[in-house]
Amino acid sequence: MLFISLIVIACFCAPNTNSQYFDYITIKIYRNDKPVTLLQADTVNNEEEVTDVSIEFEKLPILKTGTFQNLSYLRNVHINSNNLEILEPHSFRNVSNLRLINLNFNRIKIVPENVFANLTVFKISLRGNSITTLHPNAFYNLSDLEVLDLNSNKIKELPQDLFYLTNNIRQFDLGYNQFGNYFDDYKYFDEALSNIQRYQDSLLDLSFNNFTEINNNFLRGVQFVKELLLNNNNIRRIGEMALDDLRWAETVDLEGNDLEELDDKVLSALQVVQNINLQNNPWSNSFVCKYERWCEKQEIVNTMDMACNTSEYTY
Ligand SMILES: *[C@@H]1O[C@H](CO)[C@@H](O)[C@H](O)[C@H]1NC(C)=O
Ligand SMILES: *[C@@H]1O[C@H](CO)[C@@H](O)[C@H](O)[C@H]1NC(C)=O
Ligand SMILES: *[C@@H]1O[C@H](CO)[C@@H](O)[C@H](O)[C@H]1NC(C)=O
Ligand SMILES: *[C@@H]1O[C@H](CO)[C@@H](O)[C@H](O)[C@H]1NC(C)=O
Ligand SMILES: *[C@@H]1O[C@H](CO)[C@@H](O)[C@H](O)[C@H]1NC(C)=O
Ligand SMILES: *[C@@H]1O[C@H](CO)[C@@H](O)[C@H](O)[C@H]1NC(C)=O
Repeated sequence: MLFISLIVIACFCAPNTNSQYFDYITIKIYRNDKPVTLLQADTVNNEEEVTDVSIEFEKLPILKTGTFQNLSYLRNVHINSNNLEILEPHSFRNVSNLRLINLNFNRIKIVPENVFANLTVFKISLRGNSITTLHPNAFYNLSDLEVLDLNSNKIKELPQDLFYLTNNIRQFDLGYNQFGNYFDDYKYFDEALSNIQRYQDSLLDLSFNNFTEINNNFLRGVQFVKELLLNNNNIRRIGEMALDDLRWAETVDLEGNDLEELDDKVLSALQVVQNINLQNNPWSNSFVCKYERWCEKQEIVNTMDMACNTSEYTY
């Protein structure tokens, strides 16, 4: 398919009464038809066949209700690096074919309800914002959503029921946030990640947060994820049943935590995993020795950065 890039440049000389949504900014639109040059960004709503909208390095502090409401063929929206701060309710109202929303590197603090709910999107990316608060219905009923990227924000907690009717996620990136240990016994990822297929790439990224413990319930129901990243936290303890539900994990990364040992039951849950990264933890010598023997027995490559000191530990 041939996409033709159209550049819409708002005219600075004439007062623009039509600047309801965008003011004086540049928008690139892509569509597979003849090129059209629009002089006012807001007239994008008259371009009913537009499939892609891209706004980058402009000033767009508010994404208003109904911004794209005429664009029923719109599939991809990129609004990155625009100092976008406020998402008004129903900003994507009436856009019934949306597949991708990329709002990376803006200043969004709150993800309210009624912005993303009920959309047909496959991917939502909110990487590199300042998000502290997710409304409990923020991601309500997104049955096509497979990729959710919230990396590099300031999120400390997830509301329960955040993924009500949203259960086809397979790549969930929560790295570089501020999760600590407020987590109760709720199964936070159970519903969201429940339909991953074995042939699909799947990821739960919780790296570079502030976890000190992974309790027995936190990852309950996370059965099918292939890559589980818990590296670069402050984890001191992993509950003995915490990893029990993993079925076909290929990678579990625990590098850069404060672990001195793993319970035998945790080790046995790790039997299914091919790549286990345990580097850069203050492992006790007795655990290092135990892990060496375990790897030999399981025929797993031992990539630990410590070696058993046999003169200190006899077995
Ligand atoms: C939608 O498009 C029609 C023309 O096709 C136009 O009259 C109307 O103002 C547009 N609506 C918005 C919200 O821009
Ligand atoms: C929704 O989009 C259609 C075009 O697909 C348009 O005719 C209709 O006016 C839009 N509705 C609203 C509320 O903007
Ligand atoms: C989602 O769709 C349902 C059914 O059409 C509707 O009742 C509900 O208000 C919608 N929610 C949002 C947030 O748009
Ligand atoms: C979920 O969203 C779809 C549109 O994607 C809508 O048709 C359906 O009614 C919604 N269901 C509920 C229960 O809100
Ligand atoms: C990380 O957790 C520790 C202990 O729970 C706490 O003292 C510290 O303030 C937290 N750091 C951040 C950046 O949240
Ligand atoms: C092994 O442990 C003994 C006794 O604690 C100690 O003297 C020795 O330096 C250790 N060797 C290594 C390589 O750490």
